[in-house]
Amino acid sequence: MSRTVLMLPGDGIGPEIVAEAEKVLHRINDSFELGLSFESGLVGGAAIDETGEPLPNETLERARKVDAILLGAVGGPKWDKLEMAKRPEKGLLGLRSNLELFANLRPAILYPQLASASSLKPEVVSGLDIMIVRELTGGIYFGQPRGIRELEGGERQGFNTYVYSESEIRRIGRVAFEAARQRKGRLCSVDKANVLEVTVLWREIMDELAGEYPDVELSHMYVDNAAMQLVRAPKQFDVIVTGNMFGDILSDEAAMLTGSIGMLPSASLNSEKQGMYEPCHGSAPDIAGQGIANPLATILSGAMMLRYSLGEEEAAKAIEAAVSKVLDQGLRTADIMSEGARQVSTREMGEAVLAAL
Ligand code: NAD
Ligand code: IPM
Ligand code: MN
Repeated sequence: MSRTVLMLPGDGIGPEIVAEAEKVLHRINDSFELGLSFESGLVGGAAIDETGEPLPNETLERARKVDAILLGAVGGPKWDKLEMAKRPEKGLLGLRSNLELFANLRPAILYPQLASASSLKPEVVSGLDIMIVRELTGGIYFGQPRGIRELEGGERQGFNTYVYSESEIRRIGRVAFEAARQRKGRLCSVDKANVLEVTVLWREIMDELAGEYPDVELSHMYVDNAAMQLVRAPKQFDVIVTGNMFGDILSDEAAMLTGSIGMLPSASLNSEKQGMYEPCHGSAPDIAGQGIANPLATILSGAMMLRYSLGEEEAAKAIEAAVSKVLDQGLRTADIMSEGARQVSTREMGEAVLAAL
């Protein structure tokens, strides 16, 4: 059985970090005889420059056929003035919605070697292992109507719509309860049910699902408190489930607990477990082209791909072990650099992971 992985490097540091993850995946493919074949395609600003579209049809059609996708990042100042529908980010959002990748898993795990790279005290973050389950194809990101309209008198008004249907809430809820069941059995649903009706319904559906998962302990938290608790006492969380926008924000916050956003991988899955894998960070225009970006989030996203879409748990573990070994060796990209460690470039970090495999 031949399985295909589509690589979409995108923009900014995207091509730099994907190149390192690609080397690692090629090596794993050979050593574990996985029989994977690799293709690459255009998305985001890179696609706009070539074809005029952030998500060319060819990319979308290929994305539909492959078993998994590894994406770098999209966006950058070059395309920031384009109208919303033509921006690089639409390429990413279009892949998510067309492939119905509604379940976004963002694991924030602190590698013990990086305890001093976190901006929080080591005792607050040591042993940290949180799974954020973010709804990815609904909520305010996709709700209609949306736009900028002119009011009487000529003033303009921007508007978006925050909507979730019961079935959308139920399917992401199930993913989160299942995840909690496989972990420590605690699920915290994050909402704004004191203000927003859409999240009153969210809370109701989560409570209803809890009846099906008596082994999981469900709690609820308002998003403002959750943001505070994440930096006060992050280890109280096991699995967090939340909507699209709150999940976007809380996962960047959680990333910092692990030392750097350059360490946080992600999986975006549909109900067939087809998946797109990407680091949680963006195209980092401020450091693009300098060869200093941290490729580990992308390499670890490759491990998630092996685990969730390709069913290759051993190969996934091998990559994670190699990353840990490289950190043991004291190698650090600039974003996770600390005293006594050796600073390495993007490529050197990728090579070190290869050597550790
Ligand atoms: P960003 O995540 O690109 O960068 C935020 C900060 O983190 C920057 O200082 C950057 O240098 C640093 N950083 C990010 N990744 C890093 C890495 N691997 N190693 C070391 N440092 C890293 O967020 P931003 O600056 O808000 O956005 C830049 C562009 O990326 C925007 O166009 C945005 O829309 C886009 N974006 C894309 C994605 C994606 O493709 N999934 C995600 C977030 C943002
Ligand atoms: C992310 C990014 C995207 C999001 C943007 C680039 C559309 O921030 O993957 O976290 O908001 O989902
Ligand atoms: Mn984000």
